[in-house]
Amino acid sequence: MRLSGVIIAALAALPAVVECAAGRVHKDTIHHSSIIGTTAGRPTILPSPKTTGKQFIKSGRRTHTCFVDALGNGQDDSDNILQGFKDCSPDGTVAMLSQEYIVGKALDLTFLERVDWDLQGRITFTNDTDYWQANSFKYTFQNSSAFIQFGGYDVHLFGSGKGTLDGNGQAWYDLYAKDPLILRPILIAYNGLHQATVSGFKFRYSPQWYQIVIDSSDIIFDNIDIAGGSVSKNPAKNTDGWDTYRSDNIVIQNSHIVNGDDCVSFKPNSTNVVVQGLFCDGSHGISVGSLGQYYLVYDLVENVYVYNISMNNASDMARIKVWPGVQSALSVDLQGGGGLGLVNNITYDTMNIKNVDYAIELTQCYGQNNLTLCNEYPSTLVIQDVVFKNMAGVASKKYDPKVGTLICSSPTVCHNIAAYNINVVPPSGKTPTYACTNIDRSQLQINCV
Ligand SMILES: *[C@@H]1O[C@H](CO)[C@@H](O)[C@H](O)[C@H]1NC(C)=O
Ligand SMILES: *[C@@H]1O[C@H](CO)[C@@H](O)[C@H](O)[C@H]1NC(C)=O
Ligand SMILES: *[C@@H]1O[C@H](CO)[C@@H](O)[C@H](O)[C@H]1NC(C)=O
Ligand SMILES: *[C@@H]1O[C@H](CO)[C@@H](O)[C@H](O)[C@H]1NC(C)=O
Ligand SMILES: *[C@@H]1O[C@H](CO)[C@@H](O)[C@H](O)[C@H]1NC(C)=O
Ligand SMILES: *[C@@H]1O[C@H](CO)[C@@H](O)[C@H](O)[C@H]1NC(C)=O
Ligand SMILES: *[C@@H]1O[C@H](CO)[C@@H](O)[C@H](O)[C@H]1NC(C)=O
Repeated sequence: MRLSGVIIAALAALPAVVECAAGRVHKDTIHHSSIIGTTAGRPTILPSPKTTGKQFIKSGRRTHTCFVDALGNGQDDSDNILQGFKDCSPDGTVAMLSQEYIVGKALDLTFLERVDWDLQGRITFTNDTDYWQANSFKYTFQNSSAFIQFGGYDVHLFGSGKGTLDGNGQAWYDLYAKDPLILRPILIAYNGLHQATVSGFKFRYSPQWYQIVIDSSDIIFDNIDIAGGSVSKNPAKNTDGWDTYRSDNIVIQNSHIVNGDDCVSFKPNSTNVVVQGLFCDGSHGISVGSLGQYYLVYDLVENVYVYNISMNNASDMARIKVWPGVQSALSVDLQGGGGLGLVNNITYDTMNIKNVDYAIELTQCYGQNNLTLCNEYPSTLVIQDVVFKNMAGVASKKYDPKVGTLICSSPTVCHNIAAYNINVVPPSGKTPTYACTNIDRSQLQINCV
């Protein structure tokens, strides 16, 4: 007999003012043990202090709870988790209060309608690299793939500071060192997710990017804690915190990220995005792009406000990276160039840096080391209305006394770029310098050389 592990409980007796099933005591139904936990209840999450200017809806109460208890002893909980979401969509709360869950099957949770997820334990994805490469969810953009994907309308995912997704990445870091063309899964994808909040989670040891937001809108991320690296000589590469792609009205705030690639990255067609209150350690900065990677494809990144970021031990703070107008190869698994598009209305405001190579890096020669060649084939992707302001701190010694670089591939494809109140110094104490090429210097209150 197969244990279902999923229990549906009607909450009709609760008073109408209770929006969600907070404080319900739950006993383990599989092992008939004592109480294993108490439901948490959906937190109220609002963008603050900056907003995108667009609305986020207020959700109603959920009418029932689906408890999914862990099978234990290393058994795979995937089927029960999928069943829990099926039973609780629409209008329910999936509550996972056990300590340890195992997921060994790709979970497609893109059918959600008015659903809450109360995760209080740890989900560990199996490290069967053959299974995952064959069965992970595939996205054409940059050959990306994911273990699990969430989609639907009016969805609240909350970890209450305890809920953890663990990508068990070591096997992937070691395999990638042998073969850079393996498909390393992203820890969690939001694919076609609208009107949602994601809060209070710990994300650990992702094989690749931690999160991708794709074809989605109206999502607030709050209080996310990202960490995890390699214990072998093979580094955990490309572990971006967030990548947004073809998505609108996204807020990412109040989070702590220790990773090895972009802290946050705005990929093609990310619009109306606010990022605020982040602490990033070890990253490649908050990045627009890379863009223009795909030949003749139009990429737009517009109306982005990045505010109040503490950036530490990083290659960059504020970064805009665009491929040149000619094909180039950054690495064996990343090539591109020749795309069209626009970067418009981007603000970086209030940044504190410590041990960061470049405070500002703007390039239209991404992936192309030969600047002569890059200038011969200027980017066909225009960068305009960009402000860098209120930045302070000490850079790293890597390029001392240079603390930034702004390289446009032609004066005709960069307009209205401003930098002011920038107080970033190199560790030597020398006068900081910036490399500025093909860019109007009239609004750059930095020491261009
Ligand atoms: C996708 O993978 C193929 C081979 O697996 C590789 O040739 C190609 O460059 C990759 N594309 C991107 C955009 O990374
Ligand atoms: C795979 O994961 C299991 C359980 O987490 C662990 O014991 C094992 O060492 C891992 N294998 C590899 C190759 O990393
Ligand atoms: C900046 O973000 C930090 C971390 O979230 C927060 O504690 C602080 O209050 C924020 N400061 C401002 C000026 O918004
Ligand atoms: C910078 O990196 C060092 C070495 O890993 C670490 O000890 C330190 O905490 C990091 N600093 C910050 C502010 O994250
Ligand atoms: C981005 O949006 C534009 C329309 O604004 C569209 O033409 C283009 O194909 C989109 N690009 C991608 C990568 O989806
Ligand atoms: C620029 O983007 C900000 C959000 O970052 C938005 O508030 C503002 O309205 C935009 N400006 C224009 C002219 O669209
Ligand atoms: C860089 O590109 C220029 C122009 O195409 C070419 O003449 C030169 O040989 C290239 N340099 C290198 C080092 O490849």
